[in-house]
Amino acid sequence: MLLGVNVDHVATVREARREIEPDPLTAAELAVRGGADGITLHLREDRRHIQDKDVIKVRRKIAIELNLEMAATKEMINIALRVRPDMVTLVPEKRAELTTEGGLDLIQGRRKIKHAIDMIQGRGIPVSLFINPSISDIEISKELGAQMVEIHTGLYANTKGRKKTEELARVKKAVRRGLASGLQVNAGHGLNFSNVTKIAAIKGLRGLYIGHSIIANSIYIGIEKAVKEMKRLINISST
Ligand code: PXP
Repeated sequence: MLLGVNVDHVATVREARREIEPDPLTAAELAVRGGADGITLHLREDRRHIQDKDVIKVRRKIAIELNLEMAATKEMINIALRVRPDMVTLVPEKRAELTTEGGLDLIQGRRKIKHAIDMIQGRGIPVSLFINPSISDIEISKELGAQMVEIHTGLYANTKGRKKTEELARVKKAVRRGLASGLQVNAGHGLNFSNVTKIAAIKGLRGLYIGHSIIANSIYIGIEKAVKEMKRLINISST
């Protein structure tokens, strides 16, 4: 199972002081040493952390999978077609949110999302849709022609007790339905050293996309070790 490491919050620290350090590219290089299979950058419309130049630098210097997370807007589609990441993950974006709060609204956003998929996949870059663990969202993702989906694990991560068991069951069901319909299925959001194992144990998942917890633990143990530890937990659970 692949581990994609999201280094946005390295840029969050840098932008807090408009400094030149810490550099997301250096963090990405160390994540590669720790065993990351991919690097994710979310270029937000408000540029609150990752900047355009970060995307260009990481694209040039990093050989592993670059996953560009973005909203399905004209500006972002143009950037994706210029930079040519290895994959694009379409996410909903609200200016006031602290992080991506939920999956895409595939009903309201249907036309925009379909247009983005056609433009980006039409140029040979696979598109993943970040969706809630719902069967209807899996079905719409398939209808829209996306190659991949990423199931939002945030609710699973943030609940406790019986609700957590129910959320895990929803994630598993969505993964099964996605695989059965021929989609490649990833998962992510809110995963950390304590809760990753049950998600990593789900059969057929292609990869996990993890940011905050790895960057947070990097403050204590360094990013290379934090990635190594996450990779170890994923490997023991997925075999
Ligand atoms: N996947 C997607 C689509 C996201 O938007 C994010 C957050 O940027 C993540 C995964 C990683 O979530 P977290 O930072 O909670 O690990």
